[in-house]
Amino acid sequence: MTRGSRLPAEPAPAAAATPEPPEPPAPAAAEPPVREAADPWAAPVSTDAKHSRRPLTEGLEVEQLKVYAAAAGPRRRGPLPCRGLVVVRVRGAACGPRRGESSWEGRGVLVAGSGGRSVLVTGATGGFGRVIVFRLAGAGWDVIAGARDRDKARNLVADAAGRGLALRTVQLDVACEASCRQALQECAEMTGGGPWALVNNAGIPQAGAVADVDDEDARRLLEVNLLGPARLCRLVLPAMAACGGGRIVNISSGLGRVPWPMGAWYSAGKHALSALTHCLRVEAAHLGVRVSLIEPGAFATPMLSRALTDLNTLRDPANPGYDSTTRLFTAVDRRVPGPEPVARTVETCLTARRPRPRYVVGREARFLVPLHTMLPLSLTDRIKHAVTGLPRTPAAAARPPGQQPGERSGRVKETA
Ligand SMILES: NC(=O)c1ccc[n+]([C@@H]2O[C@H](COP(=O)([O-])OP(=O)(O)OC[C@H]3O[C@@H](n4cnc5c(N)ncnc54)[C@H](OP(=O)(O)O)[C@@H]3O)[C@@H](O)[C@H]2O)c1
Repeated sequence: MTRGSRLPAEPAPAAAATPEPPEPPAPAAAEPPVREAADPWAAPVSTDAKHSRRPLTEGLEVEQLKVYAAAAGPRRRGPLPCRGLVVVRVRGAACGPRRGESSWEGRGVLVAGSGGRSVLVTGATGGFGRVIVFRLAGAGWDVIAGARDRDKARNLVADAAGRGLALRTVQLDVACEASCRQALQECAEMTGGGPWALVNNAGIPQAGAVADVDDEDARRLLEVNLLGPARLCRLVLPAMAACGGGRIVNISSGLGRVPWPMGAWYSAGKHALSALTHCLRVEAAHLGVRVSLIEPGAFATPMLSRALTDLNTLRDPANPGYDSTTRLFTAVDRRVPGPEPVARTVETCLTARRPRPRYVVGREARFLVPLHTMLPLSLTDRIKHAVTGLPRTPAAAARPPGQQPGERSGRVKETA
């Protein structure tokens, strides 16, 4: 949905308000003073169930938009409007408490919005990326979806159009330097400089034991999950600095801080991406570029089935970790939640006045990440042995034929 389709044109008188408008009288003695919003069109308006009496109906014209700035603390100015209580007066056939009333006044939340800003999202054709671009496009962002496959890009645009959303695509293989440069060149032409924000989302799992993943596969993972995002950060920074700021969101993983056997390269790549992000945040602060890291737990996307494919490809019958990890991933895949919380968090990173350096998303990740940090490695190793079925001793590895992974023979005495 474009900004125009959400709130049709014909700016209301309030839209023309000066950046520092005089404070009009408060609507009621008990209410905080009402201030004119600097530019209501700079932000998509939505209502929050907690505060609104009635949701805004799409297609209605906003006649007047006022902000109870005082209710949300001191007035905040700048490119991103404040989050606060708003009074919205709307005109339209279906806007009143009763259908047909010509005007209605209600309270909602002014959601800090994009102001039509551009954002490049990598790996937008599947999983998180797809949900992220739909969410941002729906919130009025000028979304440029990075896709390495033209057909998938066309399908994405068609799906978006089916939902009433508009987005543009660029062909982008993050593992290829020439493709990154070309994509950013196209973005610069589309946006007149470069994207205001970059979301490094593209990633691959490359599951398998360290002993079985060869250099080529390991290099491919690092290209997609680490070097590609780092390269894109490097390439977008000059344009962001020239515009006085921007946002970078890197999507890492809870497994970056909970290294998981049979997925060592994935954990290593994400761990490195996290470290890189934390350094970049400090290095880019003076350019006005805010950098955030998102560490999601497991969510329902094709990522887990890609990991299962990796395990099948590399499967070593002598390594019980393959069977047990396959069982584990299959079980996890059945009960993981949908990816919306990650898309919501990306939007927060882009719209919050002061985005947090790091967001851990998902109940399990919020539990496991701090737990893994607190527990001694000797204990987390034991837990990983138990869950993956990987034997703790050479004797345990030499199990008799037919014995299940993780099943003890009874004759073997394990040592601590
Ligand atoms: N799903 C989870 O549970 C989970 C948890 C933690 C972190 N993450 C992270 O979240 C991000 C998104 O994962 P997802 O779950 O959405 O995975 P996904 O469904 O497999 O999607 C990955 C996306 O990345 C794209 N991609 C892969 N290689 C690329 C390349 N070389 N250049 C450009 N795009 C490329 C894929 O495009 P194609 O379709 O063309 O292959 C796809 O659109 C990844 O960084 C992942 O590590 C996921």
